[in-house]
Amino acid sequence: MPLNVVDHPLAQHLLAGLRDKSTPPEVFRRLSWNLTTMLVIEATRAIRSELRSIVTPIKTTSGQILTEGLAVVPVLRAGLGMLEPVVQMFPDVAVGYIGLERNEDTAVARSYYSKLPDLSNRYTLCVDPMLATGGSAAQAVSLIKGHGAKTVVMVCVVAAPEGVDRLETSHPGIHIYTAALDEGLNEKHYIVPGLGDFGDRLYGTF
Ligand code: PRP
Ligand code: URA
Repeated sequence: MPLNVVDHPLAQHLLAGLRDKSTPPEVFRRLSWNLTTMLVIEATRAIRSELRSIVTPIKTTSGQILTEGLAVVPVLRAGLGMLEPVVQMFPDVAVGYIGLERNEDTAVARSYYSKLPDLSNRYTLCVDPMLATGGSAAQAVSLIKGHGAKTVVMVCVVAAPEGVDRLETSHPGIHIYTAALDEGLNEKHYIVPGLGDFGDRLYGTF
């Protein structure tokens, strides 16, 4: 199923805190960290692993070991709020960066930075908390595929149906992991009910 809504009660509890406009940046950052952890655990379910022999203090058994490299690409700036939990969970992860900024009037995203490693042998996560019109995510995934990635999974906190449609049209079959599929977009291209401007709330730049 390409669209996966992580509906675990703890994920939904964390999302409720992120949506609450009275949540200050310090708490917002912690909630983002914890929710990203839950989303990424689900988003990496399909990463390759194999059974290997393990010797416990009691006897020999088998254990599942990850055999596929992981890469994560946060979309600046808001995606940075989702990077560190991935690095903590997957210490061998390769990190690339993409800088995109939406025009405030048109919502068309402009690319201002890109630094990506070779992604050809890595299961690649693109992390950006807000999938609104989908323009930023579609551009980011194109850049990621341009660096060789064959498996790209989009991880976001909140998605709008418009963004999901746009991303699926641009990149058919892409898997999306999110904590919520919201109602839609308002006239300023913000997600409704959403949580406001994620980057501003993460970094206190209101
Ligand atoms: C936000 C968000 C996404 C984009 C989503 O970034 O982090 O990258 O908007 O919108 P879209 O689906 O309509 O493209 P923004 O451009 O506000 O930049 P910022 O992260 O630097 O605040
Ligand atoms: N970017 C955000 O930060 N929030 C939205 O609702 C849409 C785009």
